[in-house]
Amino acid sequence: MAKQEDQFKKVISHCKEYGFVFQSSEIYDGLSAVYDYAQNGSELKKNIREYWWKSMVQLNDNIVGIDSAIFTHPKVWKASGHVDAFTDPLIDNKDSNKRYRADVLIEDYVAKIDTKIEKEIKKAVKRFGEDFDKAQFLETNPKVVAYKEKQSQILSRMGKSLENEDLDDVKAQIEELGIVCPISGSKNWTDVKQFNLMFDTKIGASAEDATKLYLRPETAQGIFINFLNVQKTGRMKIPFGIAQTGKAFRNEIVARQFIFRMREFEQMEMQYFVAPGEQKKWYDIWKEKRLAWHYSLGLGEDNYRFHDHDKLAHYADAAADIEYRFPFGFKELEGIHSRTDFDLKAHQEFSGKKIQYFDNEREETYTPYVVETSVGLDRLFLAIISGSLKEEDLGEGKTRTVLKLPFVLAPIKVAILPLVKKDGLPDIAKKILADLRLEYSVAYDEKDSVGRRYRRQDSLGTPFCVTIDHQTIEDNTVTIRNRDTMEQHRIKSDELADYLNKEVSMSTWLKRLK
Ligand code: GAP
Repeated sequence: MAKQEDQFKKVISHCKEYGFVFQSSEIYDGLSAVYDYAQNGSELKKNIREYWWKSMVQLNDNIVGIDSAIFTHPKVWKASGHVDAFTDPLIDNKDSNKRYRADVLIEDYVAKIDTKIEKEIKKAVKRFGEDFDKAQFLETNPKVVAYKEKQSQILSRMGKSLENEDLDDVKAQIEELGIVCPISGSKNWTDVKQFNLMFDTKIGASAEDATKLYLRPETAQGIFINFLNVQKTGRMKIPFGIAQTGKAFRNEIVARQFIFRMREFEQMEMQYFVAPGEQKKWYDIWKEKRLAWHYSLGLGEDNYRFHDHDKLAHYADAAADIEYRFPFGFKELEGIHSRTDFDLKAHQEFSGKKIQYFDNEREETYTPYVVETSVGLDRLFLAIISGSLKEEDLGEGKTRTVLKLPFVLAPIKVAILPLVKKDGLPDIAKKILADLRLEYSVAYDEKDSVGRRYRRQDSLGTPFCVTIDHQTIEDNTVTIRNRDTMEQHRIKSDELADYLNKEVSMSTWLKRLK
């Protein structure tokens, strides 16, 4: 656990030191759970957004993108159920005065049982060596089976209590499990209460006619209220999808863990509209497609898993999370939700406008069902940066810090380094820079020894460093160094663009995804 905490602290300080993420309003002592993306972070974030957008919108004939406003008519949130039901169960510890999400306290307890299971696996690996069959062990070892049974009982009881609004039972469960406050160590809990997470604000010039608005807690509703507009103007045929990326706001009770849980964050969502009865099929398809997308980043397939929900949101008939192994354990990264026809029907009822689709093939009119994929851009950023940050032993007591970002996402794709600041090398370097920057974000650095410059680019996650030396003057060749292998070889400088294209370009990575 201490090792994981250390790794997380390293990620946070790396983000600050190398210009990825800063605490918002830092000079005023910061604003809790609000962050600013710095010069390198904003590039990384933009690249993640673009990789998502191109793979969802550009590569699919039947998915289009929109950009709806953050402000919406207040009835949108009444219709969607958020005014009445977008709540989290909160509980306070009377000794530390700290506030927690009751469900998260229980889920954290369940996650600790995972650690016990992993210990049993480690022991068995030692005992059985190469003969060890993990799948069989997980299914038959009595201790592991009992642990899993306990986990599922706890989660299913919590799911039922939350669904039935039985908050007394949620508190009872916390007490029965002996869960203590991580700060005070005491079990002195208040009752569990529901807390609405939406921020509100006012629109209008004078206090008398100001209207109360909500800052959207999800981008999805902007898609639902535009369903008919997009379907008609785009002549879209079911099944089809509408995607968008944009800011969302939630007054989170527990706002810890850096950019994992923020009060202002960005979502990348896609609503896939399908015929009634087809939702299960598309739900399974999108679960697999989205998992494959995450795998394509190369952070290790072991670091992802599905978690099927016991407690369903008010709009869903099935839901699963893709969880990622963050430095603080497996946690939700993306949600795949089968949202039924709940939202479109609700907007039809509240707006009084017919929101339906005539299906030529079926020759019937219906309210489409929706399968949604919803991932937090900031959370994905955290997954990617924490999965990429490595401390490598180079032998002879030397180490290096390297950010092994997927090449396509790196904020700087290539750094141009003249070996020395004289003999015309900077001029040649600047010519190469001028060519490459038309296509890629490129850095130029002529300060310090070349070894130190490599280390700096490693820490920023730059996939390639190009060094211009005296041989360049003679034969127009340069050395190109790969961040991960640290191998260097010489190529002609006019081959650089092609070389980079094969390694770092969006099209290369999108082709692999297909
Ligand atoms: N439209 C469905 C929806 O919003 P959700 O599970 O509440 O579903 C989807 O959120 C994703 O948004 C999450 O999987 C997570 O990646 C991200 N997310 C949610 N709340 C967040 C927060 N407070 N800070 C950062 N990301 C958040």
